[in-house]
Amino acid sequence: RKPYSVEIRGQTYKTNLEWFNVPRNVLEATSRRLHLQRDHPICITRQIIESHFPPPTYRHYNEYNPVVSTVQNFDSLGFPPNHPGRALTDTYYIDDKTLLRTHTSAHQAETFRANGSDGYLISADVYRRDEIDRSHYPVFHQMEGARSWDRTKVPGGDVAAAVTRDIEAIPSHGITVEDPNPPFHAERNPLQPCHSAAEAEAIGIHLKRSLEKMVVDVFSRTKAAALRDGATLPDEPLRMRWVEAYFPFTSPSWELEVYYAGDWLEVLGCGVVQQSLYNNAGVPSQLGWAFGLGIERIAMLLFKIPDIRLFWSRDERFLSQFAGVSDSPDALRRFVPFSKYPPCPKDVSFWLPTSSSPAGGNPKGGIHVNDVMEVVRSAAGDVVEDVRLVDEFAHPKTGRRSMSFRIVYRSLERTLTSPQANKLHERVRQALVANLDVELR
Ligand code: PHE
Repeated sequence: RKPYSVEIRGQTYKTNLEWFNVPRNVLEATSRRLHLQRDHPICITRQIIESHFPPPTYRHYNEYNPVVSTVQNFDSLGFPPNHPGRALTDTYYIDDKTLLRTHTSAHQAETFRANGSDGYLISADVYRRDEIDRSHYPVFHQMEGARSWDRTKVPGGDVAAAVTRDIEAIPSHGITVEDPNPPFHAERNPLQPCHSAAEAEAIGIHLKRSLEKMVVDVFSRTKAAALRDGATLPDEPLRMRWVEAYFPFTSPSWELEVYYAGDWLEVLGCGVVQQSLYNNAGVPSQLGWAFGLGIERIAMLLFKIPDIRLFWSRDERFLSQFAGVSDSPDALRRFVPFSKYPPCPKDVSFWLPTSSSPAGGNPKGGIHVNDVMEVVRSAAGDVVEDVRLVDEFAHPKTGRRSMSFRIVYRSLERTLTSPQANKLHERVRQALVANLDVELR
């Protein structure tokens, strides 16, 4: 059933049948390049963020191929060999050493090596096996940014002073941001031995101001769009906060969160680049920062788009709403849902194959939830809105394990009739048997 080779963006890759795990719908998404499709909300969001990091200081890379090596995606960034992100349950593999990138950071090393500028931005499609709901889709888009200073090129070799001067050039945004964190912390968020305290502190401030300014702008655009629609908004000021974080390729590291609809929402991860990355890229005299953000998440806030599947829609009722916005982002309007079609929830329960032992190190006793999610999506497509594990138990006598999932079917484009939903669900049930060797209950 698995193909011996696949074609991605015009290139043919031989598969390894033990590793290959890319379903057809994901393979097809590699050709969409939504971040480059004019007037698509992913493209518009990219353009708005790019406008905050303009050339020549930042060079923009939007064409990197999604097929990368395990070295690019993991090893070059310092991910340990046993990192869970490397598992077949989390990542799409072509063969044991070739995969669909799980983040734009996969291109950090080569971009540091090739980039003739002080900084760069990379936008690209990224791929992750994950759960299914209205904010998760196996393909999404990220934007990566970095800014570096070269010890041999700044006056007197004083990077801290050069960065401090560059901070002064960032326009102030007038919003108070909650940041209770020290510039670095010996245990939680260490300074790298090759950096002085003044360097790390200045780079951290430059990073935070640059990103805050971009986020303030995005949220003021959301607000302006709402006002153009005549919405009455609660007069809530924008709230942002910095929290300490961990990434293998930055230290110290942080995440920026925005208060939205009653919750703190993570919008990006960032930090001071691990010096080993610059060293390995042949530019050991450089130092600086990097960040990565999810474009969908920002686009969903910006345009008030309620379901991540909409980005993949070819329905004119979706696409036409953004016409002309790539050229005039100030005309941005919020998305107006074309009526909400009724959901069809359906349950499926099954016994796991007896061969799958609960002691296999797999949290779900032989079958990973992501495997179930993917079989469902492959069999029924984007009509699947949500899949949730609702029950799990072992038979008290036989020890056989059972799982039950609730699948919500809902088309974004039409009403599903009851026979159509039943047919989809039957297809899903048969696909579970065929692919996972389960016994339906
Ligand atoms: N690649 C990280 C992620 O996907 C984000 C990140 C990028 C963090 C660059 C720090 C620096 O979560």
